[in-house]
Amino acid sequence: MEKIVIEGGYCLEGTVAVSGAKNAALPILVSSLLTEGWNTFDNVPDLKDITTIKSLLIELGARVETSGNVVKVDASGLNRYEAPYDLVRTMRASVLVLGPLLARLGRARVSLPGGCAIGARPINLHLKGFEQLGALISLEHGYIEAQARSLKGTEIYFDVVTVTGTENLMMAAVLAEGPTTLRNAAREPEVVALAEALNRMGAQITGAGTPVITITGVEALKPTSFTIIPDRIETGTFMVAAGVTCGNIKIVGCEPSHLRAIIHKFQQAGVTVQQEADGLRILGTEKICSVDVKTLPYPGFPTDMQGQFMVLMCLANGLSVISETIFENRFIHVSELQRMGADITVSGTTAVVRGGRGLTGAPVMATDLRASASLILAGLAARGTTEISRVYHIDRGYECIEKKLAQLGGHLWRT
Ligand code: EPU
Repeated sequence: MEKIVIEGGYCLEGTVAVSGAKNAALPILVSSLLTEGWNTFDNVPDLKDITTIKSLLIELGARVETSGNVVKVDASGLNRYEAPYDLVRTMRASVLVLGPLLARLGRARVSLPGGCAIGARPINLHLKGFEQLGALISLEHGYIEAQARSLKGTEIYFDVVTVTGTENLMMAAVLAEGPTTLRNAAREPEVVALAEALNRMGAQITGAGTPVITITGVEALKPTSFTIIPDRIETGTFMVAAGVTCGNIKIVGCEPSHLRAIIHKFQQAGVTVQQEADGLRILGTEKICSVDVKTLPYPGFPTDMQGQFMVLMCLANGLSVISETIFENRFIHVSELQRMGADITVSGTTAVVRGGRGLTGAPVMATDLRASASLILAGLAARGTTEISRVYHIDRGYECIEKKLAQLGGHLWRT
């Protein structure tokens, strides 16, 4: 099994380029199921999750061609409507095919995703929304069976803000009869990017980026070309890398307007964030200040950055209270950070970090994507050698992370 080995204590310096956003690329690639003809997507990151979604599109009858970071999808031959267990269990975002399959074929059979390391993650709100659009939903042998002669626009209210729920319903509603209003919709930049891609295909969506999205159904969509937005979580991860190594990093190709909550917390922590013409410059400090953080739906502080920011707080002077409000089990990295000397106490949805003791290298185990990123960052900051096992998690969501960090002067490699 592969491991990442890190010799910590080196200051990171130089320029690093951010890849396209995984969580924007996944729904946008899936949206091509709504069209006939070749769609062209640029800046698609080369990740395990992207390979999985491409396999699923092929399984459904689409043709997929990849050349570097350009992915073309033609779903003219869409002739199957099943997302099998083997694909869904490796990536829950596979449930995103439900909306487009219902819209285009009036039928979908998708394995119900089980719980995952970070929480139970039900999809009840996706299914309730499809029912409101007129679909019949049942659960048989572990599969969601969805059928609809036609979908009719309606008003849908989400009890909880859900990112993929908003995306799934948006993709179902684009071909429904009449208008659909999504209330308490997710406002994440990835939702906005999907709405923009769908509008380029001929959809009529307004309000994306606000809590109320209106979709007026159209007869058909046409293929398009679209550039995937930069990955704000990868950007934030590099920001922490600069912060924990007292480094000086320029991050190019990022979108600072998507990072306001993260930038705000870095500035409070005493890390300098300068906006330059082509990106962000991050200047670390020897005197990191403790900051409290609460994860929230966008534009709040993202749960996908909670573990990485916690590593910065391990090095801060004083006490930091980190509250996780999105996923019930997203402190799984804590026990591994404790093995590296971190002083963290978890009580329910709150972690109290007593910073300033420094970290020491240790053998640790990655448990999910963002937890793996936290451990790499901790390894960069620690004295001595850290060995991270189960690193396959990191390949799901970070393109060549150890190479990018090594180019910045980090001492890390894969064995
Ligand atoms: N929820 C429900 N019912 C639903 C849907 C969601 O109760 O039907 C709850 C969830 O259990 C959770 C909360 O609502 O407590 C928010 O979950 P959400 O549906 O927004 O999460 P998601 O759409 O499954 C996406 C990202 C995650 C990211 C979350 C939150 C993609 C493919 N995944 O997941 O990304 O953490 O939004 O921002 O977009 C990652 O990239 O590492 C990752 C986990």
